[in-house]
Amino acid sequence: MNHLIAPSLLSADFLNLEKDIEMVNASVADWFHLDIMDGMFVPNISFGFPVMEKIAKKAKKPLDVHLMIVDPDRYIERFKKTGAYFISVHYEACDHLHRTVLAIRDLGAKAGVVLNPHTPVHLLEDIIRDVDMILIMSVNPGFGGQKFIEHSIPKIEQLKALITATKSPALIEVDGGVDLENAPRLLKVGADVLVAGNTIFSSPDPAETIRKLKNI
Ligand code: DX5
Ligand code: ZN
Repeated sequence: MNHLIAPSLLSADFLNLEKDIEMVNASVADWFHLDIMDGMFVPNISFGFPVMEKIAKKAKKPLDVHLMIVDPDRYIERFKKTGAYFISVHYEACDHLHRTVLAIRDLGAKAGVVLNPHTPVHLLEDIIRDVDMILIMSVNPGFGGQKFIEHSIPKIEQLKALITATKSPALIEVDGGVDLENAPRLLKVGADVLVAGNTIFSSPDPAETIRKLKNI
C-alpha cells in the first residue's frame, strides 16, 4: 500500500481555516487529521463540535478524528454524526476498550486505538484483530510542534510484527514530530499513515511539503 498523509489542522491558521482546508483539499494529502482535546486527558483544549461541523462542510477528504478526551464513549456517536471517518481513542482513556471499539464500528466508522509513548505495544495483543488502525504517539499528546521521540521507531517495528503475526488488517499511523528527516525511517519500519502538523503548516509552501511527504 502507498502510504497516506494526514495533515493535522491543529497547526493550521484558525483565523483562516477555510484557506488551509482548501489547500489540503487541493493537495495530494489523503485525510484531514482532527485533534480533539478536553483539557483533562491532555493539558490543552483544542476545538469541539461547532468547529468540526464547519470543517466537515468544507473538507473533501475523510476526517481522521483523534480523541484526546476522557471517557470517549460519551461522544463517539456525535463524532460519527459530525462526519468522522476514523475515530481513534486512547488505550489509556478507555476502561472497556473492546466495547468502545465495537461501538465505533457499529456506528459505521473505522476504529483506531492510540498508544501514548509510555504504553507498550504488547498490550494490544487481545485487541489487534478488532481494530482498523493503531496510532503510535511519537510525542506526548497535547501540543503540536514537539520533538519526535526516537523510541517510536522500535515500537512501530514491534507493532508491524504483531500485525503480521496476527494477520490483523490494522493500519499503522504515526503522530507527533513527523518531518522530512524521520518520515522515510517511519515508512521503512512499517508506518502506513503519517500525521504532520508543524512540518506542513509552518513550511513556506505547505502543499509542496505534503507532496514531499507523499512522494517518499
Ligand atoms: C498532538 C497531536 C498531533 C499534533 C501533531 O497531541 O495529536 O496530531 O497536531 O503536530 P506536529 O506534527 O506538529 O507534532
Ligand atoms: Zn493527533
